[in-house]
Amino acid sequence: MTGMGTLGDALEHEHRAIDGGIEAYLEGDPGHPPVERLVEAMAGLRRHIYLEEEFLFPPMREAGMMMPIFVMLREHGALWNAMNGIDTALTDGADRDAVAALCKDLLSLLDAHNSKEEPVIYTQADAMLREEASAELEDFLKTGTMPEGWVCANA
Ligand SMILES: [Fe+2]
Ligand SMILES: [Fe+2]
Repeated sequence: MTGMGTLGDALEHEHRAIDGGIEAYLEGDPGHPPVERLVEAMAGLRRHIYLEEEFLFPPMREAGMMMPIFVMLREHGALWNAMNGIDTALTDGADRDAVAALCKDLLSLLDAHNSKEEPVIYTQADAMLREEASAELEDFLKTGTMPEGWVCANA
């Protein structure tokens, strides 16, 4: 990448932004919780999982990182299901404390996932991705959107 650091840096930045949106919901006025921040964070997380599964993981798996990728995919499935649980709670009009409890569960899943993904996967990404794969991922990071109805491998 040119000018803005490594791919790993850009992906870590997305982790922080997603965490920040969920935390904003938890820290917001309980009487008027900022639901839109939570919804936006979940859309960001789904897109982030999409770009990892579509653009980042396949070339890394080909380069030999089978086991770490297997673990990451399994954890994406758990994150995806946790988000579906929050969507259902919001649709059903669950109260703020019930949604907040689900948000805390999602944050701990994210913490466990990201604390492995960043040192194990992202630190290798720039070294392992060939030029075209990293250009593709860089383009997606800037402007790409997740296809409507896409679901992660292990949801
Ligand atoms: Fe991930
Ligand atoms: Fe990630």
